[in-house]
Amino acid sequence: MHNYKPSSNLSKAALYAELLSQCRAVFAGEPDGLANAANLTALIYDALPNLNWAGFYFLRDKELVLGPFQGKVACVRIALGRGVCGTAAARQETVVVADVHEFPGHIACDSASESEIVVPLLHEGRLYGVLDLDSPHRERFDAEDAQGLKALVEAFLSCSDLSRLVG
Ligand code: SME
Repeated sequence: MHNYKPSSNLSKAALYAELLSQCRAVFAGEPDGLANAANLTALIYDALPNLNWAGFYFLRDKELVLGPFQGKVACVRIALGRGVCGTAAARQETVVVADVHEFPGHIACDSASESEIVVPLLHEGRLYGVLDLDSPHRERFDAEDAQGLKALVEAFLSCSDLSRLVG
C-alpha cells in the first residue's frame, strides 16, 4: 500500500483521483495530524511532476509556521497577508501564481521556483494554515490542480486531529 507510484500517461484529473484514493488509504484509521501531513507531502511530491517544494504552513499565534515539507530549507514564519502563502491564508482562498517574479511580495525560499499554488486549510469554517506547492516551471498550476489539491486537503482535514499543530 505504501510503495505508491502513479501510473504513467494519466490525465491530470486521473492522477489526482488516484492520489486521492492513495491518501485516503494512508490516512485510514490514523488521526495524527503531523503524521498525516508528513505523508501527504511525500505522496504529493512523489506523484506530481515538476515540483521543487511541497509542504505545509500551520496557523500558530496568528502567523504561519513551517510544517512538514519536501524540498529545500524554507522560511519558518510568514505573517498573514505576506507572500503567496500569507495572501491565500488572509483571503481564505486558493492562489495560483503563474510567474512568482510577477507576484508582489513573493517570498523566495528556493531560487528555482517559478510558479506556485497555495491552498488554504479550511475545515468547518476554521483556518488551520496552508498547503504550498512550488514548481521550477512557469504556469505549472491551473484550475485542475486547484481542484485536485482542494480534494486532497479536505481528505486530510476530515480525518486528522490538528489541535496540537495550530493555536
Ligand atoms: N513562496 C512562498 C513562501 C514559502 S516557500 O515557497 C516554501 C510565499 O511567497 O509565501
